[in-house]
Amino acid sequence: MNTIRGLAGKRKVAVAVKANAYGHGLKEMISLLRAEDVEYIAVHSHGEAASARAFGWDRNILVVGYIALSDLQAVIDLDLEPTVYNTETINRLGQLAKQSNKEINIHLKLETGTNRQGVEESRLEKVSTAIKKYPGLHLRGVSTHFANIEDTTNHEYASFQLETFNRLTAAVRRYGLKPDLRHTACSAALLLFDDTKFELVRPGIAAYGLWPSKETYLSYRLQGGSNNILSPIMTWKTRVAQIKEVPRDAFVGYGCTYRATSKTRLAVLPVGYYDGYDRSLSNLAYVLIKGKRAPVRGRVCMNLIMVDITDIKGVRLEEPVVLLGRDREEMVSADQIADWAKTVNYEIISRICGNIPRQII
Ligand SMILES: Cc1ncc(COP(=O)(O)O)c(C=O)c1O
Repeated sequence: MNTIRGLAGKRKVAVAVKANAYGHGLKEMISLLRAEDVEYIAVHSHGEAASARAFGWDRNILVVGYIALSDLQAVIDLDLEPTVYNTETINRLGQLAKQSNKEINIHLKLETGTNRQGVEESRLEKVSTAIKKYPGLHLRGVSTHFANIEDTTNHEYASFQLETFNRLTAAVRRYGLKPDLRHTACSAALLLFDDTKFELVRPGIAAYGLWPSKETYLSYRLQGGSNNILSPIMTWKTRVAQIKEVPRDAFVGYGCTYRATSKTRLAVLPVGYYDGYDRSLSNLAYVLIKGKRAPVRGRVCMNLIMVDITDIKGVRLEEPVVLLGRDREEMVSADQIADWAKTVNYEIISRICGNIPRQII
């Protein structure tokens, strides 16, 4: 968090903790963030917000996802700051504010070219008028989200989105609203562009010590940034559930996709695709045992995998295994697993099953 605070300076910080704190465990992340100089968390849903409150988060909660009209009472009950982009939500929130005699802080999402959530320029006057109708609604923020700021080293489209954001924010002011906070900066924006930071920043992946992408890392380094400002905070471990020796020509796992070319020692590990160890890692990934690489043999099953420990001496039942993270001189990074699985590190970490116990060390 020191890195994030350093990049944010005096601006407010909303750490994105959606998707079970990017797989790190919402409860654990909340307990860490409570000890930090962080003003907001950003969640996807009111359900995540309810969990965060139950885990003791008593500061601001920005809800960046959708809250169904029928669930909006939660905004009052849990003291949330929802993101709004349609008049139906605004009207319902306005009525709830009136009924409860409370002020609701809302954040208006502006469409700048991601074409996900957000109010298009042509609808902005109508939506602004709807907000102004309700004295109980306070425009706490205006926001947008970049489409490809982490996907490329060419940031023309991000610049275009930023210009659009500035134009739309000016329009919101012309329509008589005065937002306290402007916010656009995800991790890549926070790392690369001062102009995107405004009064509040919303980093996710970088708060967990991961780069949003290779392109972001490259752009950051080309700007003269240092090599080691981020370091991953998660290690994912399991342990050996069985050890066996199979003869040459033995098949391993479903589909008989692996066949031993010589006598092979296998360790069976109690982790599979249900746990978030992607099936595409079959016959491709390796795990770390005693600081050495043990290749995955055969297909990843629902709850089990088999790894080759022929060349790793002294492996015993219940030997610790690193699936993701560092073990002595070796490392399996979320980026490496993402490359194997043809996806992004975000997906690898956020899909680690919520049932697996998390422990803060
Ligand atoms: C609206 C919004 N803001 C901020 C973030 C954080 O993005 P990142 O993890 O790239 O920092 C996300 C994540 O997807 C998001 O959806």
